[in-house]
Amino acid sequence: MHNLQIPHATTISALRARIRSWRADGLSVGFVPTMGALHQGHLALVQLAKAQCDRVVASIYVNPAQFAPGEDFEAYPRSVIEDSQKLTEARCDLVYLPTTEVIYPEGFATTISMTGPAAGLESAARPHFFNGVATVVAKLLNQVRPDVAVFGEKDYQQLLVIRQLARDLDLGVDIIAGETVRERDGLALSSRNAYLSADDRQRAGRLNQILKQCAAALADGQSIAQARQTAFEACLAGFDSVDYVEVRCATSLAELADGRLDTPARVLAAVRLGKTRLIDNCAATPS
Ligand code: PAF
Repeated sequence: MHNLQIPHATTISALRARIRSWRADGLSVGFVPTMGALHQGHLALVQLAKAQCDRVVASIYVNPAQFAPGEDFEAYPRSVIEDSQKLTEARCDLVYLPTTEVIYPEGFATTISMTGPAAGLESAARPHFFNGVATVVAKLLNQVRPDVAVFGEKDYQQLLVIRQLARDLDLGVDIIAGETVRERDGLALSSRNAYLSADDRQRAGRLNQILKQCAAALADGQSIAQARQTAFEACLAGFDSVDYVEVRCATSLAELADGRLDTPARVLAAVRLGKTRLIDNCAATPS
Protein backbone atom coordinates (compact mmCIF):
# COMPACT_ATOMS: atom_id res chain seq x y z
CA MET A 1 0.00 0.00 0.00
CA HIS A 2 2.78 2.46 0.95
CA ASN A 3 5.92 2.77 -1.17
CA LEU A 4 8.26 3.75 1.67
CA GLN A 5 12.00 3.28 2.18
CA ILE A 6 11.73 2.54 5.90
CA PRO A 7 10.52 -0.87 7.16
CA HIS A 8 6.82 -0.51 7.92
CA ALA A 9 3.84 -2.59 8.97
CA THR A 10 0.16 -1.92 8.43
CA THR A 11 -1.29 -5.00 10.17
CA ILE A 12 -0.95 -6.35 13.70
CA SER A 13 0.44 -9.65 12.39
CA ALA A 14 3.19 -7.93 10.34
CA LEU A 15 4.02 -5.68 13.30
CA ARG A 16 4.23 -8.58 15.72
CA ALA A 17 6.28 -10.75 13.34
CA ARG A 18 8.95 -8.03 13.21
CA ILE A 19 8.89 -7.48 16.97
CA ARG A 20 8.98 -11.25 17.62
CA SER A 21 12.20 -11.53 15.63
CA TRP A 22 13.78 -8.75 17.73
CA ARG A 23 12.60 -10.39 20.93
CA ALA A 24 14.09 -13.71 19.80
CA ASP A 25 17.45 -11.91 19.63
CA GLY A 26 16.95 -10.59 23.17
CA LEU A 27 16.45 -6.97 22.03
CA SER A 28 14.39 -4.41 23.95
CA VAL A 29 11.70 -2.35 22.21
CA GLY A 30 10.78 1.32 22.59
CA PHE A 31 7.62 2.88 21.16
CA VAL A 32 6.68 6.40 20.08
CA PRO A 33 2.99 6.77 19.16
CA THR A 34 2.22 9.80 16.96
CA MET A 35 -0.46 11.24 14.72
CA GLY A 36 2.16 12.13 12.07
CA ALA A 37 2.98 15.60 10.70
CA LEU A 38 6.26 15.00 12.47
CA HIS A 39 8.51 17.79 13.73
CA GLN A 40 11.68 17.97 15.81
CA GLY A 41 9.64 17.38 18.99
CA HIS A 42 8.58 13.93 17.74
CA LEU A 43 12.10 13.14 16.52
CA ALA A 44 13.46 14.01 19.98
CA LEU A 45 11.04 11.38 21.40
CA VAL A 46 12.47 8.84 18.94
CA GLN A 47 16.00 9.75 20.11
CA LEU A 48 14.94 9.27 23.72
CA ALA A 49 13.46 5.85 22.92
CA LYS A 50 16.65 4.91 21.04
CA ALA A 51 18.75 5.87 24.05
CA GLN A 52 16.70 3.48 26.22
CA CYS A 53 16.02 0.56 23.88
CA ASP A 54 17.67 -1.57 21.19
CA ARG A 55 14.89 -1.08 18.66
CA VAL A 56 12.29 1.69 18.18
CA VAL A 57 8.83 1.54 16.63
CA ALA A 58 6.94 4.76 15.79
CA SER A 59 3.26 4.65 14.90
CA ILE A 60 1.37 7.14 12.76
CA TYR A 61 -2.39 7.10 13.16
CA VAL A 62 -4.78 10.07 13.24
CA ASN A 63 -7.22 8.74 15.80
CA PRO A 64 -10.81 9.80 14.99
CA ALA A 65 -11.97 8.96 18.54
CA GLN A 66 -10.05 11.89 20.02
CA PHE A 67 -11.67 14.48 17.77
CA ALA A 68 -15.21 15.76 18.36
CA PRO A 69 -17.51 16.60 15.43
CA GLY A 70 -16.48 20.06 14.22
CA GLU A 71 -12.87 19.66 15.35
CA ASP A 72 -9.97 19.38 12.89
CA PHE A 73 -9.94 15.62 12.13
CA GLU A 74 -10.27 16.15 8.34
CA ALA A 75 -7.92 19.15 8.28
CA TYR A 76 -5.28 17.54 10.53
CA PRO A 77 -2.01 17.59 8.51
CA ARG A 78 -1.12 14.22 6.94
CA SER A 79 2.32 13.64 5.41
CA VAL A 80 3.26 9.94 5.62
CA ILE A 81 6.00 10.13 2.95
CA GLU A 82 7.82 13.08 4.59
CA ASP A 83 7.24 11.56 8.03
CA SER A 84 8.81 8.27 7.07
CA GLN A 85 11.82 10.08 5.58
CA LYS A 86 12.28 11.90 8.88
CA LEU A 87 11.94 8.64 10.80
CA THR A 88 14.54 7.00 8.54
CA GLU A 89 16.95 9.87 9.28
CA ALA A 90 16.20 9.51 13.00
CA ARG A 91 17.14 5.80 12.65
CA CYS A 92 13.73 4.59 13.75
CA ASP A 93 13.57 0.83 13.09
CA LEU A 94 9.93 0.34 12.11
CA VAL A 95 6.94 2.54 11.28
CA TYR A 96 3.55 1.15 12.21
CA LEU A 97 0.78 2.56 10.00
CA PRO A 98 -2.44 0.90 11.12
CA THR A 99 -5.62 1.58 9.16
CA THR A 100 -8.91 2.37 10.87
CA GLU A 101 -10.04 -1.22 10.08
CA VAL A 102 -7.13 -2.43 12.22
CA ILE A 103 -7.74 -0.03 15.12
CA TYR A 104 -11.56 0.08 15.11
CA PRO A 105 -12.73 -3.04 13.25
CA GLU A 106 -16.41 -3.49 12.41
CA GLY A 107 -18.33 -4.03 15.66
CA PHE A 108 -15.73 -2.35 17.92
CA ALA A 109 -17.56 -1.56 21.17
CA THR A 110 -15.05 -0.65 23.91
CA THR A 111 -14.10 2.76 25.29
CA ILE A 112 -11.74 3.36 28.18
CA SER A 113 -13.18 5.97 30.49
CA MET A 114 -10.62 8.05 32.39
CA THR A 115 -11.01 10.21 35.48
CA GLY A 116 -8.22 11.29 37.89
CA PRO A 117 -5.68 13.38 35.94
CA ALA A 118 -8.09 13.45 32.97
CA ALA A 119 -10.60 15.61 34.90
CA GLY A 120 -10.76 19.33 34.09
CA LEU A 121 -8.24 21.40 32.07
CA GLU A 122 -8.33 19.94 28.51
CA SER A 123 -11.47 17.92 29.33
CA ALA A 124 -13.48 21.09 29.98
CA ALA A 125 -13.16 22.16 26.32
CA ARG A 126 -12.70 18.64 24.87
CA PRO A 127 -14.71 16.18 27.02
CA HIS A 128 -14.30 13.33 24.50
CA PHE A 129 -10.53 13.72 24.24
CA PHE A 130 -8.90 11.59 26.95
CA ASN A 131 -11.25 8.62 26.54
CA GLY A 132 -10.33 8.64 22.84
CA VAL A 133 -6.62 8.93 23.62
CA ALA A 134 -6.70 6.27 26.36
CA THR A 135 -8.57 3.79 24.14
CA VAL A 136 -6.21 4.13 21.18
CA VAL A 137 -3.07 4.20 23.34
CA ALA A 138 -4.16 1.06 25.22
CA LYS A 139 -4.70 -0.67 21.88
CA LEU A 140 -1.39 0.49 20.41
CA LEU A 141 0.50 -0.55 23.56
CA ASN A 142 -1.15 -3.99 23.41
CA GLN A 143 -0.32 -4.34 19.75
CA VAL A 144 3.35 -3.32 20.09
CA ARG A 145 3.96 -4.54 23.68
CA PRO A 146 7.03 -2.34 24.12
CA ASP A 147 9.30 -2.16 27.16
CA VAL A 148 9.21 1.64 27.08
CA ALA A 149 6.83 4.17 25.50
CA VAL A 150 7.68 7.85 25.16
CA PHE A 151 5.22 10.77 25.35
CA GLY A 152 5.96 14.49 25.13
CA GLU A 153 5.61 16.86 28.08
CA LYS A 154 4.03 19.34 25.65
CA ASP A 155 0.79 17.43 26.27
CA TYR A 156 1.43 17.23 30.00
CA GLN A 157 -2.09 16.19 31.01
CA GLN A 158 -2.05 13.47 28.35
CA LEU A 159 1.28 12.20 29.74
CA LEU A 160 -0.21 11.86 33.24
CA VAL A 161 -3.38 10.24 31.87
CA ILE A 162 -1.28 7.63 30.06
CA ARG A 163 0.84 6.98 33.17
CA GLN A 164 -2.42 6.40 35.08
CA LEU A 165 -3.76 4.14 32.31
CA ALA A 166 -0.57 2.03 32.26
CA ARG A 167 -0.64 1.70 36.04
CA ASP A 168 -4.38 0.97 36.35
CA LEU A 169 -4.44 -1.63 33.56
CA ASP A 170 -1.07 -3.24 34.49
CA LEU A 171 0.17 -2.65 30.96
CA GLY A 172 3.74 -3.50 31.99
CA VAL A 173 5.34 -0.64 30.07
CA ASP A 174 7.56 2.17 31.37
CA ILE A 175 6.11 5.54 30.36
CA ILE A 176 8.94 8.02 29.75
CA ALA A 177 8.47 11.79 29.38
CA GLY A 178 10.21 13.75 26.59
CA GLU A 179 10.94 17.44 27.13
CA THR A 180 9.11 19.95 24.97
CA VAL A 181 11.09 21.20 21.98
CA ARG A 182 10.61 24.92 21.31
CA GLU A 183 11.11 27.55 18.62
CA ARG A 184 13.56 30.37 19.45
CA ASP A 185 10.77 32.55 20.86
CA GLY A 186 9.56 29.75 23.14
CA LEU A 187 6.63 28.47 21.05
CA ALA A 188 6.27 24.73 21.71
CA LEU A 189 6.55 22.71 18.49
CA SER A 190 3.16 21.28 17.52
CA SER A 191 1.74 19.90 14.28
CA ARG A 192 -1.14 22.37 14.73
CA ASN A 193 1.24 25.37 14.56
CA ALA A 194 0.82 24.92 10.80
CA TYR A 195 -2.64 26.53 11.22
CA LEU A 196 -1.18 29.83 12.56
CA SER A 197 -1.32 32.87 10.24
CA ALA A 198 1.94 34.87 10.00
CA ASP A 199 0.49 37.49 12.34
CA ASP A 200 -0.69 34.92 14.91
CA ARG A 201 2.68 33.17 14.72
CA GLN A 202 4.30 36.44 15.88
CA ARG A 203 2.08 36.45 18.97
CA ALA A 204 2.18 32.73 19.76
CA GLY A 205 5.58 32.67 21.51
CA ARG A 206 4.17 34.91 24.24
CA LEU A 207 2.39 31.95 25.86
CA ASN A 208 5.61 30.28 26.97
CA GLN A 209 6.95 33.60 28.32
CA ILE A 210 3.80 34.11 30.40
CA LEU A 211 4.03 30.58 31.84
CA LYS A 212 7.72 31.01 32.67
CA GLN A 213 7.01 34.34 34.38
CA CYS A 214 4.28 32.64 36.42
CA ALA A 215 6.66 29.84 37.47
CA ALA A 216 9.30 32.43 38.44
CA ALA A 217 6.77 34.38 40.54
CA LEU A 218 5.76 31.16 42.32
CA ALA A 219 9.42 30.31 42.99
CA ASP A 220 9.79 33.86 44.42
CA GLY A 221 7.05 33.13 46.93
CA GLN A 222 4.10 34.89 45.28
CA SER A 223 0.78 33.25 46.22
CA ILE A 224 -0.63 30.70 43.79
CA ALA A 225 -3.83 32.75 43.30
CA GLN A 226 -1.89 35.97 42.57
CA ALA A 227 0.60 34.34 40.19
CA ARG A 228 -2.21 32.56 38.37
CA GLN A 229 -4.30 35.75 38.09
CA THR A 230 -1.36 37.70 36.62
CA ALA A 231 -0.76 34.95 34.05
CA PHE A 232 -4.47 34.77 33.23
CA GLU A 233 -4.64 38.54 32.61
CA ALA A 234 -1.49 38.44 30.46
CA CYS A 235 -3.08 35.65 28.38
CA LEU A 236 -6.31 37.65 28.02
CA ALA A 237 -4.26 40.63 26.77
CA GLY A 238 -2.10 38.53 24.43
CA PHE A 239 -4.57 36.14 22.82
CA ASP A 240 -8.07 36.11 21.34
CA SER A 241 -9.49 34.04 24.23
CA VAL A 242 -8.33 31.93 27.14
CA ASP A 243 -9.65 28.43 27.93
CA TYR A 244 -7.68 28.07 31.18
CA VAL A 245 -4.55 29.04 33.07
CA GLU A 246 -4.02 26.81 36.11
CA VAL A 247 -1.36 25.92 38.68
CA ARG A 248 -1.71 22.24 39.61
CA CYS A 249 0.12 19.47 41.46
CA ALA A 250 2.86 18.22 39.10
CA THR A 251 2.15 14.51 39.66
CA SER A 252 -1.65 14.32 39.98
CA LEU A 253 -2.88 17.62 38.48
CA ALA A 254 -4.97 18.05 41.64
CA GLU A 255 -5.86 21.62 42.57
CA LEU A 256 -3.54 23.26 45.12
CA ALA A 257 -4.66 25.20 48.17
CA ASP A 258 -3.82 28.89 47.83
CA GLY A 259 -0.70 30.28 49.50
CA ARG A 260 3.00 29.91 48.86
CA LEU A 261 3.95 26.97 46.64
CA ASP A 262 5.31 24.13 48.79
CA THR A 263 5.23 21.22 46.32
CA PRO A 264 6.35 20.66 42.71
CA ALA A 265 3.69 22.13 40.45
CA ARG A 266 2.88 22.64 36.81
CA VAL A 267 1.49 25.80 35.24
CA LEU A 268 -0.79 24.80 32.36
CA ALA A 269 -2.65 26.94 29.84
CA ALA A 270 -4.80 26.75 26.72
CA VAL A 271 -5.50 29.86 24.64
CA ARG A 272 -6.92 30.60 21.23
CA LEU A 273 -5.35 32.62 18.42
CA GLY A 274 -7.63 32.87 15.40
CA LYS A 275 -8.73 29.30 14.65
CA THR A 276 -5.71 27.78 16.41
CA ARG A 277 -5.85 26.47 19.97
CA LEU A 278 -2.44 26.58 21.67
CA ILE A 279 -1.63 24.56 24.79
CA ASP A 280 1.57 24.70 26.80
CA ASN A 281 2.86 24.10 30.32
CA CYS A 282 5.87 24.76 32.48
CA ALA A 283 7.33 23.30 35.70
CA ALA A 284 7.12 25.43 38.86
CA THR A 285 9.19 24.47 41.89
CA PRO A 286 9.05 25.96 45.37
CA SER A 287 12.15 27.97 46.35
O1 PAF B 1 -0.18 13.01 21.28
C1 PAF B 1 -0.62 12.45 20.23
O2 PAF B 1 -0.10 12.64 19.12
C2 PAF B 1 -1.83 11.54 20.33
O3 PAF B 1 -2.72 11.99 21.30
C3 PAF B 1 -1.47 10.05 20.57
C4 PAF B 1 -0.77 9.87 21.91
C5 PAF B 1 -0.57 9.56 19.43
C6 PAF B 1 -2.75 9.21 20.57
O4 PAF B 1 -3.44 9.31 19.37
